[in-house]
Amino acid sequence: MEVKKYLIPLAAIAVLSACSSEPTVTSPDGNIKVDVQRNEGLLSYSVCVGADTLILPSPLGLVAEGLQPTSDAEMTVSHSTADETWEQPWGENKEVRNHYNEMAVSLTDKDLSFTVRFRVFDDGLGFRYEWNVAAGDSIVLRDELTRFDLARKGNSWAIPASFETYELEYRNLPLDSVTDANTPFTFSIDQAGFFGSIHEAALYDYPEMTLVNEGGRRLRANLAPLPDGVKAYLPSSFATPWRTIQIGKSACDLINSNLIINLNEPCKISDTSWIKPQKYVGIWWGMHLGTQTWTMGPRHGATTENAIKYIDFASANNIQGVLFEGWNEGWENWGGNQHFNYAKAYADFDIDSIASYAASKGIELWAHNETGGNIPEYEAAMDSAFAWYQSLGIHTVKTGYAGGFAGGQFHHSQYGVRHYQKVVETAARYQLMIDAHEPIKETGIRRTWPNMMTREGARGMEWNAWSAGNTPEYLCTLPFVRLLSGPMDYTPGIFDINYERAKSDPGRIEWNGPNDYCKINTTVARQIANWVIIYSPLQMAADQIENYEGHEAFQFFRDFDADCQWSRALQGEIGKYIVVARRAGDKFFLGAGTDSEPRTLRVPLDFLSEGKVYTAAIYADHPANPSKVVVSSTKVTSKDTLTIAMAAAGGQAITFIPD
Ligand code: NOJ
Ligand code: CA
Repeated sequence: MEVKKYLIPLAAIAVLSACSSEPTVTSPDGNIKVDVQRNEGLLSYSVCVGADTLILPSPLGLVAEGLQPTSDAEMTVSHSTADETWEQPWGENKEVRNHYNEMAVSLTDKDLSFTVRFRVFDDGLGFRYEWNVAAGDSIVLRDELTRFDLARKGNSWAIPASFETYELEYRNLPLDSVTDANTPFTFSIDQAGFFGSIHEAALYDYPEMTLVNEGGRRLRANLAPLPDGVKAYLPSSFATPWRTIQIGKSACDLINSNLIINLNEPCKISDTSWIKPQKYVGIWWGMHLGTQTWTMGPRHGATTENAIKYIDFASANNIQGVLFEGWNEGWENWGGNQHFNYAKAYADFDIDSIASYAASKGIELWAHNETGGNIPEYEAAMDSAFAWYQSLGIHTVKTGYAGGFAGGQFHHSQYGVRHYQKVVETAARYQLMIDAHEPIKETGIRRTWPNMMTREGARGMEWNAWSAGNTPEYLCTLPFVRLLSGPMDYTPGIFDINYERAKSDPGRIEWNGPNDYCKINTTVARQIANWVIIYSPLQMAADQIENYEGHEAFQFFRDFDADCQWSRALQGEIGKYIVVARRAGDKFFLGAGTDSEPRTLRVPLDFLSEGKVYTAAIYADHPANPSKVVVSSTKVTSKDTLTIAMAAAGGQAITFIPD
């Protein structure tokens, strides 16, 4: 009987165990069934959902000397069940139910014990490999055999596979036409009428998994290699990340699933009181639009004068944090030798007086660390830089990896995964929260390391400054793909959608340009709705503060609370529209967005607390002017249904504040 010590119950917990020779396990509700087959030393698995086969018998296992069980290895199968409710310090949902049936299939030889552990939930499944090698030598992992042989035709939404970047456009392809993909890999199955998404959970000390189609919808795990072609060097006793398949009746069910985070271990940080969701503004967008610079000079953004202005703005507008990019020496080396000094501010950024001014106003100062991909330098500097930040009262670091890693290392290889984790754990020692840009993919590690707050890991707002930008279809796909893995620092909320202020600035420098054709491809109301739709515990109002000053619709962000305790995707179709509601304290927030089609939705307000009257402040599209937000207010209760009318590329945001 295997009782996991780390299952700390809040509500109820039951762990049952039985030994059986039947290598089959079902979800608690019986709808999902996993079968394991053995052919000599090789294992395979299949998955059924109700009466439909989802995964045909597909190979399991790894290619590594010492990890191949022989045909006479003894097979044992054990089953257990867990049902617990755990609480996170912050999260889309404060309380999370973790309810699954587990099956461990082990093959044991003289020198090897090799296990495939399955956990099957009502909303999908995960499985991972575990081993113990008697010889004690390290394992040279050459490949992974895991395959997902999809039984039926269907549709898919994913970015292409790349070991270097996730900042790619989505492809919406029939399953048969997929060549390669990164995860989350979201799909729908024709006729059977359900949705799924392949991803991974708890990615530590192992390369990321992408998918390659070996023909006929046979998607094989393809791991990011190290420069010598080896996939990973691993210890003699190890558990891999979980390979996950979320399953739902609707696309929104995938968003409402907690499967990825549930497959991570409980929190390893004993005092989490310093970890605080917050709203922030920053010196950032000006550099992307080309009206300010990261480097010191006449247009330097991160100056003492601007810092005071931003701190005052934050303090006057119920915003907790301010970010400054370009505050530290080294930006002239970005894209060159990638040498940054993480412990020295530019001469025109008086960090000591800025930090004490911020503290006197109760505002959190953020440190931005662009590494340009120079990992050895960052790792060497981290401890002392983080100690200094802590002494200044800083609790958040935004990291960045805009640049290749030296020595042929991929961002998403075992080398990269180890680095990103080292940053998280080092930061935790100095009570720092992390917002990582150009990160490794999110796999739910925030359960274990809740200072890993948010990350980029998809095309964010910046793409609108210097490319054709993100389409409304992209924004309606994001919640069903990238956001299934966890929070994203998209940096929403641009109000000057045509960049009028920047374009009228005669000294504008076309950074990454020419940028004159660029604009935001949505309405302003949709920009506001994105604060709700794109969940991030650190949520930015990304525009320059001049564009918020005196704007009626900025009241939404003033009222907004990034520390929500409950979330629900209410309605949506992948690539077409999405409606999300969240609760923080006794306030509710709703965000709705559509693609290039105008759309009217009826949304029942049954998520509001029963018996209460709320003032709903509605931020809606103007039917003819994307820059204009129509603000109105009405009284509602949980019995009401709202009609939400959205213009093309539009949206709607609503705050519900109880009377
Ligand atoms: C890319 C990041 O995503 C962006 O937020 C940042 O401003 C630049 N790199 C510079 O570090
Ligand atoms: Ca980026």
